[in-house]
Amino acid sequence: MSGGMNDYAREREVAARVVREAAELVRGYHRSEELVIESKAGNEPVTEADRAASALIVGRLAEAFPGDVVLSEEIPDDRTRLGRERVWMVDPIDGTSDFILGDSGFVVMIGLVVGGRPTVGAVAHPPTGRVFAGVVGHGAWVEGADGGRAPLHTSTVASPPDIRLVASKTHRTHRIDAVKKALQITDEISVGSVGLKIGLVSEATRDLYVYTGGRTKIWDTCGPEAVLVAAGGKMTDVDGKLLVYDQPELYNRRGIVASNGPLHDFVIATLAPLVGTTDK
Ligand code: IPD
Ligand code: CA
Ligand code: CA
Repeated sequence: MSGGMNDYAREREVAARVVREAAELVRGYHRSEELVIESKAGNEPVTEADRAASALIVGRLAEAFPGDVVLSEEIPDDRTRLGRERVWMVDPIDGTSDFILGDSGFVVMIGLVVGGRPTVGAVAHPPTGRVFAGVVGHGAWVEGADGGRAPLHTSTVASPPDIRLVASKTHRTHRIDAVKKALQITDEISVGSVGLKIGLVSEATRDLYVYTGGRTKIWDTCGPEAVLVAAGGKMTDVDGKLLVYDQPELYNRRGIVASNGPLHDFVIATLAPLVGTTDK
């Protein structure tokens, strides 16, 4: 607390420090020939690095904030989180497929939900040593490998034709082509991690991320949503509704629209006729 109003400065510093520590741990496994890979329910890959990073982060958060509940992708959801004011959400490696392939499209993410909304976020990119962090209402920054910090602000593009899109690498569907056409988008890149895509919108390298499928879960969006909103952006589902973090459901069933802010309402209105049902 400072001045009687909680600016979550301690939460942000702890989250940023812990994602950096976990990112260094994860980087030690990257491109290792002996990496142990397993598959979990739903045939999704998981590695010893995902588990080690999860254990490290959950332990550090429990030490720093013993009264809080932590939900991690690699630990079963026992639902003790429901009805709690503060819940940490952890994705120890987002973009595990790219991580396994030796590519650089993966991040380590922590978010804190307060009263149902992502409020504090930290996202680390191990290959570059960068950490994005933010507190909604109190700004966001990116920290370089050398520890130097620069403020994060989303872009100001408010209408076509100059929208720079970032889209999914692995779950690309025909629907994204219809979305691009409707928004007159010609500039698209694809990246294999939800958190990294939202990080690119947060730092104004991209203006928009649209995903019309229902496969992401709340730990995929919690940390990066807080960073994005703190940087001036906006995030909803494809219907323009806020994502829901305090219910039993783990999936974001109605997709993701993460924008720079000024574009948001226009994008939602343009998507409306295209997204009657959700892609798988
Ligand atoms: C996945 C990645 C991927 C996205 C999937 C996520 P994981 O997370 O973010 O890019 O398409 O929906 O589940 O399994 O690597 O943490
Ligand atoms: Ca993920
Ligand atoms: Ca993961």
